[in-house]
Amino acid sequence: MATVISKPILINGKEIKNRILMPPLVCFNWADDDGFQTVDRQRHYGLRAEGGTGLIIIEAAAVSKEGRLATSQLGIWKDEHIPQFAKIAQKCHQEGTKVILQIVHAGMKSVGDKVLVPSPIEENNTKDNSTQYIPMTLEDIEKVKEDFINGAIRAKKAGLDGVEIHGAHSYLLNQFTSPLINKRDDLYGGSMENRFRLPLEIVSAIRIACGQDFIIGYRFGVNDPTFVEDKYLAQELEKAGVDILNVSNGIGIKNLDVPKDFPFSFITYMGVEIRKAVNIPVACVFGIRVPKEAEYLLENDLIDMVAVGRALLADPNWTNKAIKGEDVNLCYHCKPRCKYSVDGHTCPWFKTLNF
Ligand SMILES: Cc1cc2nc3c(=O)[nH]c(=O)nc-3n(C[C@H](O)[C@H](O)[C@H](O)COP(=O)(O)O)c2cc1C
Repeated sequence: MATVISKPILINGKEIKNRILMPPLVCFNWADDDGFQTVDRQRHYGLRAEGGTGLIIIEAAAVSKEGRLATSQLGIWKDEHIPQFAKIAQKCHQEGTKVILQIVHAGMKSVGDKVLVPSPIEENNTKDNSTQYIPMTLEDIEKVKEDFINGAIRAKKAGLDGVEIHGAHSYLLNQFTSPLINKRDDLYGGSMENRFRLPLEIVSAIRIACGQDFIIGYRFGVNDPTFVEDKYLAQELEKAGVDILNVSNGIGIKNLDVPKDFPFSFITYMGVEIRKAVNIPVACVFGIRVPKEAEYLLENDLIDMVAVGRALLADPNWTNKAIKGEDVNLCYHCKPRCKYSVDGHTCPWFKTLNF
């Protein structure tokens, strides 16, 4: 049965076979302290590829060891990390699924005793008294840029179709774009143009390093803190060479007024609004559990792709079932947080997988 979900879409000239995108979802405790997987990701992502997902964005991989958001997180800071991603690329491509890697530096949210920050931070943003927050020098900024570029080059060497630069969820690039965190008074702080400089330079440099035939996505953190700035940043990212925006939340978020007849969260609505400002494909996210919700967004031409996160963890065959009109496993939206935040093996649906 053909549905709006099964309609292909082009991203940077590459055909994505349908409108379902798996957003990045770190599988905590499935990696060691050196950025290597301890649980097979070829199988994990392979199941979602076999299940028909159009575009998979592999979970956040750290571009440097000091920029990790967790000690058990995948790394892409050295060549030895490449093979674990090459295996995922090979399997996804075998299933006709495009696959890119999210690359991240966590900045003030990094693990460790000494962490890099755009500028001195206020006490309410500190995690504990023992952590030293080190304002970045221009040399530190250059090093972070290099780390992102090298991460993207390694993703390309692994055979992946591209990268998604993590610019949301209060991580380093989001800290730079936000006037609530970034108090620098040089070329990288102050005006909107200056605060946006680092992510834009990274995008342009990755485009040069990895070529035209490489998808560059951006995880976009909206309401950071104003929607006017967000729309401008979205347009600048498009000009710099971003091929798809995957819209989520940023820093200093204030709930937008969502129209009464919009049946999803304000996070989903932000994606719909950002899409109006740009000419590249935009994906929205949050709480999509059943196919009819994705169909509503697509049928009403509110968005280009729908990101289905936890629901794809609950049911790797979500997309194929959606296209066939079958019922999907219903994600429990576990509280206080998704089991994959601790260990995916404890997800209520995990035992049903042939993993
Ligand atoms: C366990 C877990 C890990 C996540 N890891 C990432 C990540 O690596 N990068 C990212 O940008 N977002 C991450 N997210 C956010 C998801 O990409 C997504 O935006 C969120 O789960 C909401 O979508 P959903 O309601 O469809 O699950 C994570 C969320 C969860 C639950």
